[in-house]
Amino acid sequence: MTPLRHLFSPVRIGTMTAKNRMLMSAMSINFGVDAKGHVTEQLIEYFVARAKGGVGSMLVGGGAVHPTGLELPDLPTLWDDDCIGALEKMTKAIRPFGTKFGMQLMHGGRQSYHDNKVAPSPLPAAAVVKGVPKELTIDEIHELAEAFGDSAKRCQAAGFDFVEIHGAHGYLINQFLAKNSNQRNDDYGGSFENRIRFLIELFRNIKRKMGSDFPVGIRINGSDYIQDGWTLEEALQLAVILEQEGADYLHVSAGVYGSSELTIPSMYTQQGCFVHLAHAVKKQVSVPVVAVGRIKSPEMADRIIGEKKADIVALGRSFLADPDYPRKAESGDLARIRPCIACCLGCIHNVLALEPGSCVVNPDVGREYLLKGTDRADESKKILVIGAGPAGLAAARMATIRGHEVMVCEERGHVGGLARLAAIPPGRSEIMEIVEYFKNELDRLRVDLRLNVALTPSFIQSVNPDHIILATGSLPEMPIIKGLFQTKMSLCSVTDVLEGSTATGNRVMVIGGNQAGLVLADFLAEKEVVVLNRKKHFAEEMSSNDRFYLRERLKRDNVKLYKNVSIKQFLPDGAIFSSGGEKIRLQGFDSVVIAEKMTPIRKASELFEDTHIPVHVIGDAKSPRILMHAISEGEDIGRAI
Ligand SMILES: Cc1cc2nc3c(=O)[nH]c(=O)nc-3n(C[C@H](O)[C@H](O)[C@H](O)COP(=O)(O)O)c2cc1C
Ligand code: SF4
Repeated sequence: MTPLRHLFSPVRIGTMTAKNRMLMSAMSINFGVDAKGHVTEQLIEYFVARAKGGVGSMLVGGGAVHPTGLELPDLPTLWDDDCIGALEKMTKAIRPFGTKFGMQLMHGGRQSYHDNKVAPSPLPAAAVVKGVPKELTIDEIHELAEAFGDSAKRCQAAGFDFVEIHGAHGYLINQFLAKNSNQRNDDYGGSFENRIRFLIELFRNIKRKMGSDFPVGIRINGSDYIQDGWTLEEALQLAVILEQEGADYLHVSAGVYGSSELTIPSMYTQQGCFVHLAHAVKKQVSVPVVAVGRIKSPEMADRIIGEKKADIVALGRSFLADPDYPRKAESGDLARIRPCIACCLGCIHNVLALEPGSCVVNPDVGREYLLKGTDRADESKKILVIGAGPAGLAAARMATIRGHEVMVCEERGHVGGLARLAAIPPGRSEIMEIVEYFKNELDRLRVDLRLNVALTPSFIQSVNPDHIILATGSLPEMPIIKGLFQTKMSLCSVTDVLEGSTATGNRVMVIGGNQAGLVLADFLAEKEVVVLNRKKHFAEEMSSNDRFYLRERLKRDNVKLYKNVSIKQFLPDGAIFSSGGEKIRLQGFDSVVIAEKMTPIRKASELFEDTHIPVHVIGDAKSPRILMHAISEGEDIGRAI
């Protein structure tokens, strides 16, 4: 029996009862529809996997009620009766698992990706998307209210259990609500009553068309976290009105494009960062209130319900990372939950780049329909994995699950490879959780993991594997720059500093403005730190959400960043370089830390050059890249053998 008794108690939402209090929040995942926006097997199987995982209720994200409101290119469209057939196929596929299935009704307004954007006022979005939207006429506003009602009706016809109106995150409805995006001086702008009019009218339209029995929830922002945006005071006032209007639940989120607190927060933010907003709303109403935002651990989720801060907890990315989260939480198998590390890279960064959503820690996202029935290998093989970083661990786990006999050898005394170091700078510790997850999995699967192994030909011979997976990672490469090896500053690499093997002194020059260089600068920020980036952009391999918080930290700590740097020469205590057309001489530094390119480590391959054992090189050992590649290549090879 689970100790998480609050989380796993049923909850009534209008006429519907969900079996537990976990809601998979709406995510515009940008895959799984055809050219008309009708859902395909890809989206169906993505949701089936999550319904099988035991979630109480879940929402399809980004259901577009009108062509002008399609937020991203590959989202479900709801503006035509033609969409019903495919949606019905999806709801039928979900029904056997007992998860209540809802559609979020959305209009992107000025935050839509395309050029036919409309909005209450002709003002561009504060960030992410470009272009001035067309101001809606009164007739067009009425047409959109009808479109919400008609779309909801189609969802009902397709067999959905409920719908949620997307009134948050700076999309069309939120644009009407907030003063900064609504500068109309007719019945839909100005006073609070006028700004909420569009939402109230479309809500009534939905309820009129569907009958009062069909559950309709509304997602609003507790705060836009932007100047002259929607405030908590306004949200509290609106919540009471929405309850009176017959809303079946209220879902309280936060943030818009360009806000100071992002809707999809990165690992730098506190877990549960928006729960206080839901709590404030809950004090005003008696309909169920949903909290969201970095609610990560089942214990935290349970506590939020137990302490009556909310009635339901919504998790988004945790369901990308692990579709089976509820089932594992309910059975008390918490260490088996594959954790979302809040990197924002595979998911929101991808979709805002108009790519299909995915997940850094779970390469199966969006591939569920392709992976059916690939569980066991035809023949069990003996596999030697060399290297216990994320790639090696992921490969070992998958190969073992498929029935192979796996041994993992690591020359160091610990697992994790570079991910262990990446988790050391401030705010980055959640990266280590994915390493711990894989380590726990290897323990559970009783994989033969050997640390401090010095590989020799005779050792390989004694193991006599059928396959070798080389996952030995990468190390920093020293650049060739005039004077670098003659400087009197102490010279070391980012890994030396993070491993604690080198002291840097008080004034540090970091060469490299990628992720490693910037998180290192943050790690050293109590000292005086400058970063010389030879590229045009900083940390391009990070998601924009994650980088946003990191840049704020560096600004706060006065870390000086130079880009487009061309280093002319190193001095005994500094460097001469140009940046932005300016020639700069910096002196008085104690150390220079290299954090630029990485180079693959493949030394071990010499040991089996003369054997006929098939060798598969994966992760950084193949080519130094990000964690996502390491994990996906590990899982792919584990599946392929
Ligand atoms: C890829 C992606 C797409 C999202 N799309 C939507 C959306 O269409 N509608 C919405 O209300 N929220 C959307 N969100 C926000 C999530 O519903 C959720 O509020 C947010 O991720 C914070 O919760 P979490 O920390 O549990 O992920 C999206 C989030 C992600 C990661
Ligand atoms: S990509 Fe990163 S933030 Fe997004 S769900 Fe996966 S682990 Fe979480």
